[in-house]
Amino acid sequence: MARIFIAIRFDDEVKKALVSLQDTLKAKGVRGNYCPYRNLHMTLAFIGENYDLPEISKAVSEVEFEPFTMTLSKLGTFPTRAGVIWCGIKESEQVMALAKQLRERLTDHGVKYRMQAFFPHISLVQHPTHIITDIDVPEISITTDSIKIMKSEQIDGELIYSDMNKTETIHQITFSPTGGTRRVSELLCKAMEAESNITELCTKQENLSYPQVSADDLVIISMPVYAGRVPALAVERLKGIKANGAKCVIVAVYGNRAYEDALVEMQDVCTEMGFRVIAAVAAIAEHSICRMYGAGRPDAEDAKELASFGASIIGKAKKELPFEPLVLPGNRPYKQGCVGPYPVAGDLCTECGLCASEYPTGAISLDNPKSNNHELCIGCMRCVKVCPAQTRGIGERLNMLVAHLKPLCSERKNNELFI
Ligand SMILES: Cc1cc2nc3c(=O)[nH]c(=O)nc-3n(C[C@H](O)[C@H](O)[C@H](O)COP(=O)(O)O)c2cc1C
Ligand code: SF4
Repeated sequence: MARIFIAIRFDDEVKKALVSLQDTLKAKGVRGNYCPYRNLHMTLAFIGENYDLPEISKAVSEVEFEPFTMTLSKLGTFPTRAGVIWCGIKESEQVMALAKQLRERLTDHGVKYRMQAFFPHISLVQHPTHIITDIDVPEISITTDSIKIMKSEQIDGELIYSDMNKTETIHQITFSPTGGTRRVSELLCKAMEAESNITELCTKQENLSYPQVSADDLVIISMPVYAGRVPALAVERLKGIKANGAKCVIVAVYGNRAYEDALVEMQDVCTEMGFRVIAAVAAIAEHSICRMYGAGRPDAEDAKELASFGASIIGKAKKELPFEPLVLPGNRPYKQGCVGPYPVAGDLCTECGLCASEYPTGAISLDNPKSNNHELCIGCMRCVKVCPAQTRGIGERLNMLVAHLKPLCSERKNNELFI
């Protein structure tokens, strides 16, 4: 059963300082139930298992205060029950006023909370084997600009605290000329059980629209692999999104040959943009030039595997672990990229113009769709895929490429998760 409380949460610097105090206690032989990094907080009001969320939300939304800072002080334990070692804070009128105001608003809205007097502290260890409090505490400031309605629940045997105000939107951002990349992204997100939206970057420039990403969202960025890299146009368009420090998952989708430097390139781009890359996936889809390779993929087996990857990813995203950069396969500097072969229209072309209207750049003109401007073509095969007359293609070069790729692409490759 979930329990609700209202709390102040901390940034990584404060949590790291608190963990180092816990480490000192451990080094001094104190055993007990240490509060995990992700759960460190200061409770302002404890509500418990019986709660009326809309009323709690109303009460919290009515609390008004100016952002303030408080400073960690010393360790202590309650005189009446030695069941916890906590870290206190230096006297702060603002935090006392904040707790008082919150409790008044809760009462106004008929929300019952534990009536214990408010004493600002951060629990470090419950049920310690013995009490040690003479440890130097660093002068760390805690900036408080918001309060959170928190839910505490057991997930897979672990106590997880999650923020009930959190948007938890999943933004799927794909660049998918022939649909394989997008399919992988959708399968990955299927088991995540969160509100999700899709932004397709492989569209005409004038149709591009970017999602608003907030720090609490999870962003799944999926791109196809071209010659062991990701398409330059996909990267250029991705950079139009504001990351706002959100967590992201990078997904490189390839045609059963190899993904080489694609994941490290995506990791570098996303990190530079301000995303926190918490997981990476390499997955297989039909090869968009030589369609006999990876044919039918992602298939039912892939769907199952991608769903289980998705579940592991959402589990990690919720746990709020300290951010550690992933170590991914691939080389820096990346291998030399290249643009794919340029498709042209065959004799059966009816000049319907569909390829021109669907192409992400202006490589095909509506006035003369049989031609292709090589300067603007990215060789993505979108025009080949959408042509209703199935008359666009790369001609003789296809047979040569099929033969070249045969030894490299014939054996089924596996999807991979890096987390
Ligand atoms: C120009 C080009 C280069 C490609 N290079 C690779 C590659 O290096 N390795 C690979 O396994 N697949 C490669 N592929 C296949 C695509 O990565 C794969 O089909 C992907 O699923 C295409 O995504 P889409 O269906 O979203 O367009 C390439 C495809 C194109 C068009
Ligand atoms: S989609 Fe096919 S038939 Fe239509 S204009 Fe393009 S090449 Fe011609």
